[in-house]
Amino acid sequence: MKIYIATDHAGVVIKDDVKNMLDNLECKVIDLGPQTTDRVNYTDFAHDLSNKVLEDIGSFGILICGTGIGMSLAANKHSGIRAALCHDAYTAQMARKHNDANILCFGQRVVGLGTIESMLEAWVKTEFAGGRHATRVELIEKF
Ligand code: RB5
Repeated sequence: MKIYIATDHAGVVIKDDVKNMLDNLECKVIDLGPQTTDRVNYTDFAHDLSNKVLEDIGSFGILICGTGIGMSLAANKHSGIRAALCHDAYTAQMARKHNDANILCFGQRVVGLGTIESMLEAWVKTEFAGGRHATRVELIEKF
């Protein structure tokens, strides 16, 4: 799985840990920044990463901010992006299985590293179920 990752200043501290976890899951990871804890607008990183995921067919994204909320709101402004704010392995699994989410969002201030590891594993190992769920995803795209 090819995964773009980006954060804001409130998500950057765990970015390297998350990248290592993704390496262990044999993902190809592309880091879109930032590289420091200087204050930035999460919107810039959400929009940049969303464009990359849309251009690079079949790729996925991970967006981390303090809560994951701002990142998910911004990313979901893009047609074709389904950014899911997840809090545990179950929500990450269902975001892939039922919603065909292509961006995983979470909050550095909300979830710990153990939970993140289980979320990433669920995300990477779960495929979209299709069928009736595909109909609903198509309906989302018609909005
Ligand atoms: C930054 O303080 C914080 O507002 C941001 O990381 C995010 O949580 C917004 O949704």
